[in-house]
Amino acid sequence: MPPRLSGMNTAPRSPLVRQVAFGLLVLLALLVGAAALRFALPGQPLAPPLPNLTVQRELLVIHAVSAGLALMLGPWQFAAGLRARRPRLHRCIGYGYAACLLVGGLSALPLAAQAMGGPLAQLGFGLLGLGWLGTTAVALVHVRAGRIAAHRRWMVRSFALTAAGISLRLQLGVAGGFGVPVEVIYTALAWTCWVPNVLAAELWLWPKAQPADPEPGWEPTRLGVD
Ligand code: HEM
Repeated sequence: MPPRLSGMNTAPRSPLVRQVAFGLLVLLALLVGAAALRFALPGQPLAPPLPNLTVQRELLVIHAVSAGLALMLGPWQFAAGLRARRPRLHRCIGYGYAACLLVGGLSALPLAAQAMGGPLAQLGFGLLGLGWLGTTAVALVHVRAGRIAAHRRWMVRSFALTAAGISLRLQLGVAGGFGVPVEVIYTALAWTCWVPNVLAAELWLWPKAQPADPEPGWEPTRLGVD
């Protein structure tokens, strides 16, 4: 039995299901991330009537662009084949993700303090921002110390929070489809966009078996996703 590199759940999953799920994640991340980049363009019509658009417009633009880039960079880090064959590219994308996340997370905190939906929404977005920065910082500390399995577990948590950018817009779309105004559901969205993601990540990481870090020099050979 080959050693397992990851600190993930070792329950068997169909490769096809994993590839399809990963493909869907990449597609959504690219679409939602690219849509966020529109904030960088002048004169763009901005859909939700956010107070932050008038109060802290520059910060909102900085946040949308950096968080959108983090969303577009993040999924590639979970492609085992890319990590195995192009470790330098993995590192490069990883630091790019962390840099975008740092800007996106720090700019999210003052935005959260003014978010539409009142104190409960502001608390929800605030905790999301702190969790986003915190999980990524822990992941970086682990990788700098050579603890690869722990690094990967924390990056799963970090990206689960990054994917709040996707969940929020999917839920907004569903609510819009049912004719529910943004203002009515915004407070709930500040929580439902990330709490289920955290639970899903913890289920994915559920420690049925916690493999140790691989032997030095061991390289995964399969092309897969984890
Ligand atoms: C995960 C941590 C994140 C936090 C804490 C966060 C927080 C916020 C806050 C507080 C606002 C302003 C809401 C308001 O004024 O009512 C906002 C807006 C926005 N965020 Fe984030 N955000 C995060 C991640 C992302 C990601 C990954 C994206 C990538 C798509 C993103 C894209 C945007 C965009 C485009 C807006 C402008 C409003 C909109 O189009 O919905 N954010 N974010």
